[in-house]
Amino acid sequence: MSKYLVTSALPYANGPIHLGHLAGAYLPADVFVRFRKINRDDVVFICGSDEHGVPITIRAEKDCVTPRDVVNKYHLEFKKTFQNLGIEFDNFSGTSRPKHYEISQKFFRDLNKNGHISVHTEKQFYDESKKRFLPDRYVEGICPHCGYDKARGDQCDKCGKLLDPMDLIQPKSVLSGEKPLIKETKHWYLKLQDFEEKLKTWISSKKNWKYNVKNFVLGWIGTEGLKERAITRDLNWGIPVPLEEAAGKVLYVWFDAPIGYISSTVEWGENLGKPDRWKDYWLDPETKLVHFIGKDNIPFHAIIWPAMLMGQNTPYILPYDIPANEYLTLEGEKLSTSQNWAVWADEYLASFPPDPLRYFLAANAPESKDSDFSWKAFQTRNNEELANILGNFVNRTLTFVQNNLGGIIPEGKYGQEENKIFAALEEKIKNIVECFASYKVREATQLLMDIARIGNKYFDETKPWVLKKENPDKLSTVMNICVNILRMLSVTMYPIIPFSAQKLWKMIGETGSIMEEKWDSLSGKRVKAGQKLGALEILFTKYEDKLIQEQIDRLLDKSKRKEASMEEEGKKSVTIEEFKKFDLRVAEILEASPLEKSNKLLKLKVKVGEQEKQILAGIKAFYQPEELIGKKVIIINNLEPAKLMGELSEGMVLAASNDDKSKVIVLSPVSDIESGAKVS
Ligand code: 2FM
Ligand code: ZN
Repeated sequence: MSKYLVTSALPYANGPIHLGHLAGAYLPADVFVRFRKINRDDVVFICGSDEHGVPITIRAEKDCVTPRDVVNKYHLEFKKTFQNLGIEFDNFSGTSRPKHYEISQKFFRDLNKNGHISVHTEKQFYDESKKRFLPDRYVEGICPHCGYDKARGDQCDKCGKLLDPMDLIQPKSVLSGEKPLIKETKHWYLKLQDFEEKLKTWISSKKNWKYNVKNFVLGWIGTEGLKERAITRDLNWGIPVPLEEAAGKVLYVWFDAPIGYISSTVEWGENLGKPDRWKDYWLDPETKLVHFIGKDNIPFHAIIWPAMLMGQNTPYILPYDIPANEYLTLEGEKLSTSQNWAVWADEYLASFPPDPLRYFLAANAPESKDSDFSWKAFQTRNNEELANILGNFVNRTLTFVQNNLGGIIPEGKYGQEENKIFAALEEKIKNIVECFASYKVREATQLLMDIARIGNKYFDETKPWVLKKENPDKLSTVMNICVNILRMLSVTMYPIIPFSAQKLWKMIGETGSIMEEKWDSLSGKRVKAGQKLGALEILFTKYEDKLIQEQIDRLLDKSKRKEASMEEEGKKSVTIEEFKKFDLRVAEILEASPLEKSNKLLKLKVKVGEQEKQILAGIKAFYQPEELIGKKVIIINNLEPAKLMGELSEGMVLAASNDDKSKVIVLSPVSDIESGAKVS
């Protein structure tokens, strides 16, 4: 039995949880924790909301509320969402609680006492029109490392490099869109260089760490060396820097956030009435501290956080492992919360139960490279694997026992043949255990499905419906084996699809929680003959095309709604110069066909002068493709190309519509003119 302290990255309390978050930091951690708990390990699973920093203040400013309002709202939402998805933290705290302030300030004081903090006056961006300093995400610009044009002041989303706002090329204030001024301000710095040698030795000793983490960290130290980093900010929301001369400054959110892992553990112990319980984990070198994170969090968890821990007077343990995941894309595109290109967890839960999503995200976990969520792939995984393979085996076995054997698990006589089957199954289980222990959830999911495949094959080959008439003795053994396979399945399913696992557990007549069952009792332990089945139910239903199409349309509509609200913005008067930026042209439609994946879109090939291009137009409900061919229409020719449902759209066809959009008419010149003609 080992002792584990498992954490998931604290989500910023500035917006709801989406599938990308789940795939990166929450589901893999929950799977690991469930596996460890059922493996008789001593595990505490810790999380909480990340309630400070610029992400929160920007959200509050946008919504015209206080940061406290924002934080309270999302904290409650997170708790509910995680609960509905079966992500079961032992404690879910928040970083704006008094205990967290106290521990964070102590962290700063210890580092300061030990000489690891310096203070400098530095140049910082300042928004003159707003009369405010612009820390971190208040500035955006071009990344100096990779050229990404929406890099934030603190980090580039594209290449993952940590940035100083001053590094940005063509910086802009997020508050006013203006080029910021530079002013002087005083800040406190963590001298990371003090820990460079110790960190290198520590990271090099981590032989089994994932390649992406080790490589990133060694690369970061290797090329640039460690430099001091500012750990204070000019903001009025955050933990005050515990120094008299630092009045008005707060600790940087990335300084206090990981300390949330400790303060949440302290809170967990206090809630149990054992205020010193946290020490059994954080101060015991035997504890394995495992941080589940997305790849953008690697530098903070694998460099800055360990350095902060090394500089404390309290002998905290260091991370044992940091299994960081890559990104999840959506329908082949990068997720974007600002463009509403995201599937929010609550939105998913309004139409589907949690397990199919857990299964999908486990089977497609972005473990070593980015992976994709698409609604069609989700439907396929659900229908062809959960329903057709696993659900089918459960259903055919249990209805057979119910209808032909009075719902009582029959006696099994195990000879050579049966023992061979058990041996094959136990081999699979051994492999699954190894996968769970090394965070290989994708492979574990496939092995789990292999067990169900073995079950189906056995059922097909032994033909219980024939044995029923010809060999009742053999029938008993066959059905006994099938129920045994279900028993093994329910325990192995538990980390990934716990709701269905628990239901199956009940259906095979087991009482109590599946958690009382343990991996190591799977080998050799068999079902009890004579045990009565519980009430049967269908574990997985298939999803019809229509339901999936609705989700796809909603996703497209949402991101369009965003366009619509931007349009509203755009109704303010424009200058002739602004209007001239639009290259409006007459275009001739050469080809038109419905876009299979969409209810709304037609795919058009148009000719604009000498040029031919593809445009997707949301007019499927209003025109038959054939009637458009040969027509001349007006397009925006220089609209930035975009991909919709994996198809390129290189412009926009202009159309007029009535208020409720029940009528949409494509604009066309009243008499003929050649394609490519300019519209002004
Ligand atoms: O990237 C994020 O969403 C951060 N809120 C993660 C913080 S993890 C930890 F250090 F608390
Ligand atoms: Zn970059």
